[in-house]
Amino acid sequence: MISVQEHHNVFLRQRLESLTAADKDYWSFKGNSRREYGHAMFQYPAMMVPQVVEAILKQACSVHPDIERVGDPFSGSGTIMTESMMRGLSFSGTDINPLAVLLCRVKSGPFFIDALKDKAKVLLVRIDEDRRWAVETDFPNRDKWFGRGVQLELSKIRRAIRQEDTLWARRFFWVALAETARATSNSRTSTFKLHIRTQEDIDGRSCDPVRTFKKSLARNIKHYEEQATKLSESGQLVRGYYQREIAVSLADIRKVKGKADLDIVFTSPPYGDNATTVTYGQYSYLPLQWVDLWDIDGDIDDDCLASTHEIDTRSLGGSTRVKKEEADHIKERSPAFRNYIKSLDEQPRDRALRVTAFFRDLDVCLEPILKCLHPGGLMVWTLGNRKVGGKRVPMDRILSDMLQARDAMLLCKLKRRISSKRMASKNNIADTMSSETILVMRKAV
Ligand SMILES: C[S@@+](CC[C@H](N)C(=O)[O-])C[C@H]1O[C@@H](n2cnc3c(N)ncnc32)[C@H](O)[C@@H]1O
Repeated sequence: MISVQEHHNVFLRQRLESLTAADKDYWSFKGNSRREYGHAMFQYPAMMVPQVVEAILKQACSVHPDIERVGDPFSGSGTIMTESMMRGLSFSGTDINPLAVLLCRVKSGPFFIDALKDKAKVLLVRIDEDRRWAVETDFPNRDKWFGRGVQLELSKIRRAIRQEDTLWARRFFWVALAETARATSNSRTSTFKLHIRTQEDIDGRSCDPVRTFKKSLARNIKHYEEQATKLSESGQLVRGYYQREIAVSLADIRKVKGKADLDIVFTSPPYGDNATTVTYGQYSYLPLQWVDLWDIDGDIDDDCLASTHEIDTRSLGGSTRVKKEEADHIKERSPAFRNYIKSLDEQPRDRALRVTAFFRDLDVCLEPILKCLHPGGLMVWTLGNRKVGGKRVPMDRILSDMLQARDAMLLCKLKRRISSKRMASKNNIADTMSSETILVMRKAV
């Protein structure tokens, strides 16, 4: 547990703000946001920039050298987890999306590089020697999303992975297969939503899943090996095992009942309901059809793939059934929310409803998140203020209000510019965002 005194707040604020004072665009890391190590293993939507996480963790740890354990309730692809490992910290995370949990579990090791290379060679021989013509998955509209030849090749890869004995290696291979499935499906890759390509486009494409898989596997092994070397050099890796504790659960953070063992919560929650911002679930739906879900988590609920929308519906803001008292509760806690909702008075009702449903759910998350944090623990929230009905939702002010209503203290706000993210730009609710705000807060002591 970190010790906290008044001067810690002043130091941390000064350190973070001095970086912005020296270069007002410091947090944008423009031209300096290359993804290396585990960060480069899979293109997950809305990933954080590792350099931002590294810089903030560095400052937080220099003010509080006793920080030991980081938590990320919305872990995604594990950017914060990987950066925590680079600093030799323990980590616990959750995500509701099985693909995100698979990525985190792979990126946290074990790092048996030589064995992995040997197993990859055996795997590729198995794939090349496979002459079977069976398709190894079945789901609604399979033939719409994958050409017949692609299905047969993805099936060879799936069969070969299933023959691998060790769970850690199978998980590693599933990541490359997940990426291959996404790249060779008939869905457009220019959007996170599932959008079928035009027939002309489909007919004109030549997909080679085995080749794509081999490339992706080789690249991932390279990044993994680089990460292992870096961790070994700093003494964090012994015989392939990371020396601190890492725990990532497949869970809805609203339902998590943890104990207070985190020194810092560092996270980037969704910007709004998935359907109108980033559809993490739709993005993951086709890749996950080719992965053995029980290899991701023994307790996985297969119904998470019941439809293309299921994961998104289960995520924050996925259900727009909001009771009046729930809406009133957030209005009481957040003046920024109250004013924002009022400004939507003239707009179609569903807009205010969507925003309310999202903040109702985000508010529910705060209870378990704060419970997992030690008294006086730090919080770093990376937030995007997206637009609804042409008006920017002040998520930074709303979240800050909601946390202050729970006695947390705002230490500082940092701004960073971002290149436009792929959003549901064709609907009238969302648009692309050009900046993010980083809220640095502290739980009451
Ligand atoms: C902005 S992304 C996190 C990206 C991550 N920081 C990275 O660098 O990859 C938000 C994540 O929140 C997850 N999520 C949404 N609702 C959730 C919930 N109720 N419980 C846990 N995770 C949830 C999504 O699946 C998504 O992976």
